[in-house]
Amino acid sequence: MNEAPSGEASDRAGENGGTGDASSRQASENAGVGDATSPQAGENAGIGDASSRARADGADGARIARTGPVLSLRQAAKAFGAVQALVDGSIDLYPGEAHGLVGENGAGKSTLVKILGGVYQPDAGELLIGGEPVTFAGPASARAAGVAIIYQEPNPSRPARGLSVADQQIVEIAKALSLEARVLVMDEPTAALTSVEVDRLFNVMAALRRRGTAVLFISHRLEEVFASCQRVTIMRDGRFVLAAPVGELDIDTMIRAMIGRELGAMFHKTGVTPGEVVLQVEHLGRENVFADISFAVRRGEIVALAGLVGAGRTEVARAVFGIDRRTAGSVQLLGKPLPNGQPTAAMAAGVAFVPEDRRQQGLVMDLGIDDNVALASLARLRRGGLIFRSAERKLAITWAKRLQVRYGWIHNAVATLSGGNQQKVVLGKWLARQPALLIIDEPTRGIDVGTKAEVHRILDGLAADGVAVLMISSELPEVLGVADRILVLHEGRLTAEFDRADATADKIMRAATGQARKDAA
Ligand SMILES: Nc1ncnc2c1ncn2[C@@H]1O[C@H](COP(=O)(O)OP(=O)(O)OP(=O)(O)O)[C@@H](O)[C@H]1O
Ligand SMILES: [Mg+2]
Repeated sequence: MNEAPSGEASDRAGENGGTGDASSRQASENAGVGDATSPQAGENAGIGDASSRARADGADGARIARTGPVLSLRQAAKAFGAVQALVDGSIDLYPGEAHGLVGENGAGKSTLVKILGGVYQPDAGELLIGGEPVTFAGPASARAAGVAIIYQEPNPSRPARGLSVADQQIVEIAKALSLEARVLVMDEPTAALTSVEVDRLFNVMAALRRRGTAVLFISHRLEEVFASCQRVTIMRDGRFVLAAPVGELDIDTMIRAMIGRELGAMFHKTGVTPGEVVLQVEHLGRENVFADISFAVRRGEIVALAGLVGAGRTEVARAVFGIDRRTAGSVQLLGKPLPNGQPTAAMAAGVAFVPEDRRQQGLVMDLGIDDNVALASLARLRRGGLIFRSAERKLAITWAKRLQVRYGWIHNAVATLSGGNQQKVVLGKWLARQPALLIIDEPTRGIDVGTKAEVHRILDGLAADGVAVLMISSELPEVLGVADRILVLHEGRLTAEFDRADATADKIMRAATGQARKDAA
């Protein structure tokens, strides 16, 4: 089934990052890398052309002839009505190689993936498997050809209730592996995983490569691409921009090619003196989940809940908001008790909750971007029983702009947005509310590198305006960069608390893995 001699496949994998032949295909011809910073439109095509040439007659054509890509997509195009999701979707996947695919939210990555998976038929372009042109009539023919896909969106028809996002993802990966695929495509598989699971996934990817499988890996965490992939393809605005061995790119070059400009200034935190206590949590418990959780969040303060997946961070947040009932302790907002298990009462009291799994819990997929953003702010927009559509539109457009959402019309259904852009709409919906307390679970999950800093700036701005923010994040740089105070959970217990000035990644990790408590004891 697999034509690549396995010895050769592992050789190539081993040369990753070295100066050997793995780096020769393409690259030096790619004057386009520099050009990638130039203003978007016209020049784009030039970059693509340069790299296509490099791909076609690169210096090691002989090696390509020897192994050959197991899968090639050439200049695939796909439009949805007036939206041109893909203009030039091009990628070569080699046996025994992990290939990263990166680009901003809405760049066309998932659309390309769905073409590989037979979900969409391209309007133009060519798909080759083992050098032979193929047409996938549907997902079944893609599977039959040995292409297994783990999609970005969780399957809504599957009864996944009770399973965390991480667990669902692991189930999906196991299913794909059991198919013995020649090509395994994973669309943002790590978005819901933390370091331990990500490491495990990378080990699985490496094992597959040694077996000669071609892996396509999509992630907004560029360091993951550097850690796990040998080659990377960069897309922008539905177009192939460049492909290169990861060893020949640095992170800045990659970002420039992705966003077509320099990344804006780094986020700087505003020093706010915390005001009155907004949220007071005392001895909060939920049987068999977490126990004895006490903390406060003040006006102007951003408090982070750190810890590993499964430590109980999301569960604490849900119990504070009232989605889950607490079995012990109390929650007060601005000195008044919040009733147990009543999210509507919490909302009325001024609490906003941005859930972790935003596509399942945060959006009405068939409603427009405007309606979704306005949903949480209805009370403010309503005047004498009327909701002013113009006010709704204005609010939605303001937030869509701040969060750099890519959309056609503001009243388009959110179902038509890319995964990351849907995330941005959920964020916008809750941020627009200006609550007394904002609880936000994984604020930048699935959000592209160009917008992350903007989300951090917005959180900072809310705090400066006096909002109390309780943030859950698995990304340590985010925790360290954004939070004033950090609470660490381990197995349902608070194991440490750090002020911004004392916190380090190392201390947080030790507390998150339970070592800090043992040391102290
Ligand atoms: N079914 C659809 N109907 C209309 N437009 C769509 C549809 N699917 C995708 N699009 C549009 O195509 C573009 C590319 O979307 P795609 O999902 O491929 O992006 P992506 O690179 O995967 O982004 P992300 O990083 O956010 O997941 C977006 O502008 C999106 O709004
Ligand atoms: Mg996507």
